[in-house]
Amino acid sequence: MAERPYTILSCGISLDGYLDAATPERLVLSNEADLRRVDAVRAESDAILVGAATVRHDNPRLLVRTAALRAERRRRGLGESPTKVTVTESGCLHRNNNFFTTGESEKLVYCASRSASRVRSALTGLATVVDAGQPVDLTDVVGDLFARGVRRLMVEGGGRIHTQFLTSDLADELHLVVAPFFVGDARAHRFVGTGAFPWNPSHRAHLAETRQIGDVVLLRYALSSRFAGVS
Ligand SMILES: NC(=O)c1ccc[n+]([C@@H]2O[C@H](COP(=O)([O-])OP(=O)(O)OC[C@H]3O[C@@H](n4cnc5c(N)ncnc54)[C@H](OP(=O)(O)O)[C@@H]3O)[C@@H](O)[C@H]2O)c1
Repeated sequence: MAERPYTILSCGISLDGYLDAATPERLVLSNEADLRRVDAVRAESDAILVGAATVRHDNPRLLVRTAALRAERRRRGLGESPTKVTVTESGCLHRNNNFFTTGESEKLVYCASRSASRVRSALTGLATVVDAGQPVDLTDVVGDLFARGVRRLMVEGGGRIHTQFLTSDLADELHLVVAPFFVGDARAHRFVGTGAFPWNPSHRAHLAETRQIGDVVLLRYALSSRFAGVS
């Protein structure tokens, strides 16, 4: 396999395993202390990747929020926030999304061939659009990120993206935060969808750490032999 970045999947879920509610509003699963932890993981990353549905639905900024962490990145000769990365088949991305309009960091859009030229025109001056083939294979995406100098990648969802990273065995760590409530609506998105996961009843993942953070709990799993053990 081509070289790929050290990859951390980061996700918050409800007690019944949902990523979100089935309503238009963004569901808050985390708490302030956990958001500070996530911010520190972001600050240690070279790039943050989310699926295009998350860009559209959550409209995340994907920036390092804490001034001291941004200053520390500058001291290390880095930009204040990591490169932002998304993946799309449809090319339905809007110039006004916070993904594109906030922060000075590079923005990369891996786009299926059928939409690439249209998306490149639509996002001129805002993002680098990479024609990632048809269909887009995330193994190629992470290989290309490595070639661009990304050595540490944070993946912040959503479910279809997490499913592919896990079933393609492209993740080194999973940071799963469990919030203390139920969503209870089968129309909502689950953490992952259907797939052949490398971890199953006869091949259990290694639970490396549990940490209570206020009213949520972080479950940290080592998913590869590259697991670094510190965070
Ligand atoms: N709780 C959390 O930590 C958390 C974090 C992030 C998101 N979320 C939630 O998760 C939900 C979104 O999750 P989701 O599973 O619907 O979507 P997602 O994983 O964010 O994005 C899926 C989209 O990404 C693009 N994509 C993914 N794989 C691709 C591939 N191999 N080739 C081409 N394009 C690809 C496609 O975009 P196109 O449709 O443009 O083709 C696809 O529809 C939202 O409700 C959000 O609030 C929760």
